[in-house]
Amino acid sequence: MSKDKNKNAILKKDYERVIIPTYAPANFVPKKALGSEVWDQNNKHYIDLGGGIAVNCLGHSNPDLLSVLHDQSKKIWHTSNFFINKPAIELAKSLTDSTFADKVFFSNSGSEANETAIKIARRFYFKTNIKKTEIVSFTNSFHGRSLLNIALGDSETFKEGFGPLPELILKAKFNDLSSVKEIISKNTAAIIIEPIQGESGIQPATKSFLKGLKEICNKHSVLLIFDEIQSGIGRTGSLYAYMKYGVIPDILTTAKGLGGGLPIGATLVTNKLAESLETGTHGSTFGGNPLVCAVANKVLEKVNNPELLEKIIRKEKILVNGLEKISSKYKCFSEIRSAGLWIGCDLKRVGEVKTLLDFCYKEGVIAVSAGSSTLRIAPALNIAEEEITTALERLEKAINKFES
Ligand SMILES: Cc1ncc(COP(=O)(O)O)c(C=O)c1O
Repeated sequence: MSKDKNKNAILKKDYERVIIPTYAPANFVPKKALGSEVWDQNNKHYIDLGGGIAVNCLGHSNPDLLSVLHDQSKKIWHTSNFFINKPAIELAKSLTDSTFADKVFFSNSGSEANETAIKIARRFYFKTNIKKTEIVSFTNSFHGRSLLNIALGDSETFKEGFGPLPELILKAKFNDLSSVKEIISKNTAAIIIEPIQGESGIQPATKSFLKGLKEICNKHSVLLIFDEIQSGIGRTGSLYAYMKYGVIPDILTTAKGLGGGLPIGATLVTNKLAESLETGTHGSTFGGNPLVCAVANKVLEKVNNPELLEKIIRKEKILVNGLEKISSKYKCFSEIRSAGLWIGCDLKRVGEVKTLLDFCYKEGVIAVSAGSSTLRIAPALNIAEEEITTALERLEKAINKFES
């Protein structure tokens, strides 16, 4: 196709002219999408195994979400936090009914949910007149791109040129309790951890590590924060990953899948912690927006359903079996890790995942990367088994080209 007829190429050029180049997007531009199917500007068809990086948990344009969105759009869109809105109350009720938490603060993204979590932890000790301000986070962690969250995360690249960053953040080694014991002190306010690290390629904490962390937290009056922004909303086959681990945090952050594609973040806490943020201490213009909360409440209702959650494990098996077969034929992956419909395949050809993704897109299958060497798969939780089969066939063709 000539460049003037290729609508994807025309838009990519426009993108490069007007958007700050923080991303390295694909060469095709999605035009419309339904369920796990996507079409680009030239009407080429794709099966979506990326799910907008674990966001579109019920697929694109889900009819039930659309119906709630339309209904709410005719009622009220935005009120400001001078007023109570019903969809926010309903969503908070659903979140607290289905988790350990008593109260919720709504924001617009995962990063903001984590900011709120750290503010609550520090403020809790401030209010109790106990000097505790240090935060412990982990190697290979990712918590977002705000200044606080890059300080919490473990990537030096993400920090470069952005300092000074928030202080008193210490790094312990993921899955290593002794490194936590070495680092914590009477000044430690909180430990923040992803129970399963997403951006570093679906790396699970061990059960004994999380149980040990909880014991250390209890012993030293340290708050345990679970960042479930990527692992939450059914991704692993339970509503939140902590439920499978049987370890209950003091604070949980959730975002991504919660809005089913609309922006929302939420910080979940117990009553004891909620009391530390009184009127005026924290806020957000859009957090708890009625339109988004109405949709998120529907997402939660549909995902927190044993039938859907059970099928996730079945689909995980189909995907992992297919990926293992491809790998034994082409010797392409050094390791495949999965946690529900969330899979990381480490490439033997280190650093070349972008090249593989381009082959995937050419074959009509969308996946994403984690780091530079891991193929990440995080499809809609309701993806059909036939769609998985088609996606695996297309992925095999892509791998064949990548390896030859
Ligand atoms: C574990 C985790 N925490 C925080 C974030 C940041 O979320 P957001 O990009 O919505 O700010 C992400 C996003 O990928 C994430 O995976």
